[in-house]
Amino acid sequence: MKIIVTGGAGFIGGNFVHYMLKKYNDYKIICLDKLTYAGNLETLAPVMENKNFKFVKGDIADREFVYNLFEEEKPDIIVNFAAESHVDRSIEDPGIFLQTNVIGTGVLLDACKKYGIKRYHQVSTDEVYGDLPLDRPDLFFTESTPLHTSSPYSASKASADLLVQAYHRTFKLPITISRCSNNYGPYHFPEKLIPLMIANALNDKQLPVYGKGENVRDWLYVEDHCRAIDMIIHNGRVGEVYNIGGHNERTNLEVVKTIIKELGKSEDLIKYVTDRPGHDMRYAIDPTKIKEELGWEPETLFDEGIKKTIKWYLDNKEWWTNIINGEYQNYYKKMYENK
Ligand code: NAD
Ligand code: TYD
Repeated sequence: MKIIVTGGAGFIGGNFVHYMLKKYNDYKIICLDKLTYAGNLETLAPVMENKNFKFVKGDIADREFVYNLFEEEKPDIIVNFAAESHVDRSIEDPGIFLQTNVIGTGVLLDACKKYGIKRYHQVSTDEVYGDLPLDRPDLFFTESTPLHTSSPYSASKASADLLVQAYHRTFKLPITISRCSNNYGPYHFPEKLIPLMIANALNDKQLPVYGKGENVRDWLYVEDHCRAIDMIIHNGRVGEVYNIGGHNERTNLEVVKTIIKELGKSEDLIKYVTDRPGHDMRYAIDPTKIKEELGWEPETLFDEGIKKTIKWYLDNKEWWTNIINGEYQNYYKKMYENK
C-alpha cells in the first residue's frame, strides 16, 4: 500500500506518519508538505532514514506539481492533512486559507479523479459545525448537524468538505471525511492553546486567556486521532463522514490551570486578554457512529494525556525553543502585544 500524507510535517500529519510507519512495515508513506511556518522537518527527523518513507516538498495547490507526483508515485490512498490551521491567523489574513484549504483540496481531488485512487481521505474538523451554547450540556455535534461556520478557517474547511462530497456524488470518487475535535500532544506548534501555555509557563511568561476563559473544547490526544483515521481509511464506508472525539470537555481556564499546577507555577501568570472576534463557545462531539461502526474509542483521557504532553515538552525543549526563537517572535508580538 502506498499512501501520500499531505501536511505530514505539521502536528497531526507528523504524528500520523510516525504512527503508520510503526504499525505497518510494508506500507510506503510519502509526505507531501510545503513547509510553511507550521511545517517542521525536525518532526520527521526520526523517520527520514526509514526505507518506507519519503519526503517531498511541494504545494497541494500547485496542479502541475501534484499531477507529476501522482504520475510518478501512483498512490493507493491520499490522506489530506495539509491546511492553514490557526483560527487567529485566519482572522488576520483569510486569503491563504482559501488558497490552501479550498483550492488545494480541489487540486488533490482532480488528481485523484485523473489518475484513480482507492481512497481519498479528508481530515476535517468539528469547527465546521459552528458552536454549541454553554447552557446546553445535553447538545453534541453529530454527523448530521448542519454546517454553520464562524471563522474564515472553519468556513474554508467546510467548503473543502462540500467539494469532497461533490466529487463523490458526481464523479464517484471513493472518499471519506473525518471531523475531529481539538487535538493535543507531541509536535504541536506553540501558537495553539496547550503548547503556547506550556512554553510560556516554562519561561515564566504571562498566560493570555481570551475573554473569561469559559469557552469549552473537547480535547483528544493526537494518537487517538491517528488511530481513528487508520480505521476509517481501511474500514470506513465510502462516502461517509465520521466524527472523532468525545467526552473530554474542559473550559480553557481549566486547561490553563491544569498546566500551571503540573508545572508548579503560579496562577498569577494568567492574564485575561481581549476576546477572539466571533469566538466559538463550545465544541462537543458525539462519537456514536465511529464507535458503533468501527469500534473506535478514545484511549487516552485528558488527565493522563495532558501529563504525557507536558512531559514531552519538557523532554524535547530543543524542538519548541527552535520555533519560538525564530520568526514566531514577530507573530507573538503582533498577536499579543496590544491585547
Ligand atoms: P499544522 O498547522 O500543524 O500543520 C499543517 C501542515 O500543512 C504543515 O506542515 C504545513 O507546512 C502544511 N501545509 C500548509 N499549506 C500547505 C500547502 N499548500 N501544501 C502542502 N502542505 C501545506 O496543522 P494540524 O494541527 O496538524 O492540522 C492538520 C489537519 O487537521 C488540518 O487539516 C486541520 O484542519 C485538521 N484538524 C486539526 C485539529 C487540531 O486540533 N489541530 C483538529 C481537527 C482537525
Ligand atoms: P486554539 O488552540 O487556537 O484552537 P481552536 O480555536 O481551533 O479551538 O484555541 C483553543 C481555545 O483557547 C480557544 O477557545 C481560544 C483559546 N485561546 C486562548 O485563550 N489564548 C490563546 O493564546 C490561544 C492561542 C487560544
